[in-house]
Amino acid sequence: MIVAVDGPAGSGKGTITKRIQEELGFLNLDTGATYRCVALEALREGLTLDDEEKIMNIANNIDIKIDNTGDKDIILLNGEDVSEEIRTKEVTSIVSQVSSIIPVRHKMVEVQRELAKGKNVIVEGRDIGTIVFPNAEIKIYLDADQNVRAKRRYDENKQKGIDTTYDEVLENVKMRDYNDIHKKYGALKKAEDAIIIDSTELTIDEVVEKIKNIINSYIKK
Ligand code: DC
Repeated sequence: MIVAVDGPAGSGKGTITKRIQEELGFLNLDTGATYRCVALEALREGLTLDDEEKIMNIANNIDIKIDNTGDKDIILLNGEDVSEEIRTKEVTSIVSQVSSIIPVRHKMVEVQRELAKGKNVIVEGRDIGTIVFPNAEIKIYLDADQNVRAKRRYDENKQKGIDTTYDEVLENVKMRDYNDIHKKYGALKKAEDAIIIDSTELTIDEVVEKIKNIINSYIKK
């Protein structure tokens, strides 16, 4: 079964999918990690972003697996554990551009579907219910008031010791919302058949409970 969760920055997607993973034993499919693997391989081969054809070649020949049998999900790139290496600054700095190469996106969507095959999967993003898994059994669109989302990010930053003001965070959330909606590929979009959950006045526990109830009533059907 596939549960697709889409929504804007700060809507709580990351936290909530992690909880469902822990509580229901679903695979938390990290679609961003697939793009990160392509970016890492491109760096290793010394390619620049102009080498689109070669990057496409990498995407077409790469073997990506997720091992979720232990405590932490392990990302395997051609059999090698790259879970840490795909999060480096170098990878992060080019992955967005790598993920905007259309043939790379097409191929990675295939890879993501393959990774989900035969499993109970929860997957979060922005175009999951519309593009990546249009046939997902359950589609959730998680929303929340912009100010509340900014406040959550601000609190998160404070906890992590990141020094920002609330106004800066709010500006950043506004900018990300604009970019997310207007992005050429992989834009944030509500699937027509998505169940909308507005978390403005809900706690994380309440949202998790709602999603668990939706999953349970689907299973009982
Ligand atoms: O979530 P992340 O930071 O690991 O994502 C890495 C990059 O991949 C980021 O630039 C957004 C992009 N991405 C995407 O285009 N489509 C997805 N489904 C997931 C991530």
